[in-house]
Amino acid sequence: MDLRQKIRVVDDFPEPGISFKDITTLLCDGPSFQSAIRQIADFGRPRAIDLVVGPEARGFVIGAPTAYALGVGFVPIRKPGKLPGVTIRKDYQLEYGRDGLEIHADAIQPGQRVFIVDDLLATGGTIHSCIELVERSGGIVAGLGFLIELQYLEGRKKLAPYEIFSLIQYE
Ligand code: PRP
Repeated sequence: MDLRQKIRVVDDFPEPGISFKDITTLLCDGPSFQSAIRQIADFGRPRAIDLVVGPEARGFVIGAPTAYALGVGFVPIRKPGKLPGVTIRKDYQLEYGRDGLEIHADAIQPGQRVFIVDDLLATGGTIHSCIELVERSGGIVAGLGFLIELQYLEGRKKLAPYEIFSLIQYE
């Protein structure tokens, strides 16, 4: 199954010069969605994962079913002000927009092995912040999984030496 052809590329969205990778065209095809999640979960399975963590919003769509497939819990990382409990916060810059992320301070137990999952690895800024939040929570980052990697933005360099899996790459 060629999952790459299920991604819709939209040029100049959300602003001129950005080539947007639209995953909704993959998500609405059941066999493609199932295949994508299975392959991301297959990367996580041998890593003795205790929890999957994913950032709002598209990270939920990929992360939550990955957690379900692995039979482990899912912990959301959200934009500021959305989580009701005590949180740990990280402020950061992105390719376009966004200013911070939060995780519930009690969501990860010290020593738990965490698989961080998102739809897209672009500059790596989002996942770098997620890694920091997981590690400040006492978790061990046991792998990073993505549906898409934009290799030309070199996010992978920023995330070394963590183990990274991406299903579809754009050069
Ligand atoms: C997108 C995407 C990743 C992030 C990747 O999220 O879902 O989380 O950007 O970019 P980076 O590697 O340069 O950090 P976005 O901020 O658009 O939020 P959304 O998922 O709520 O649409």
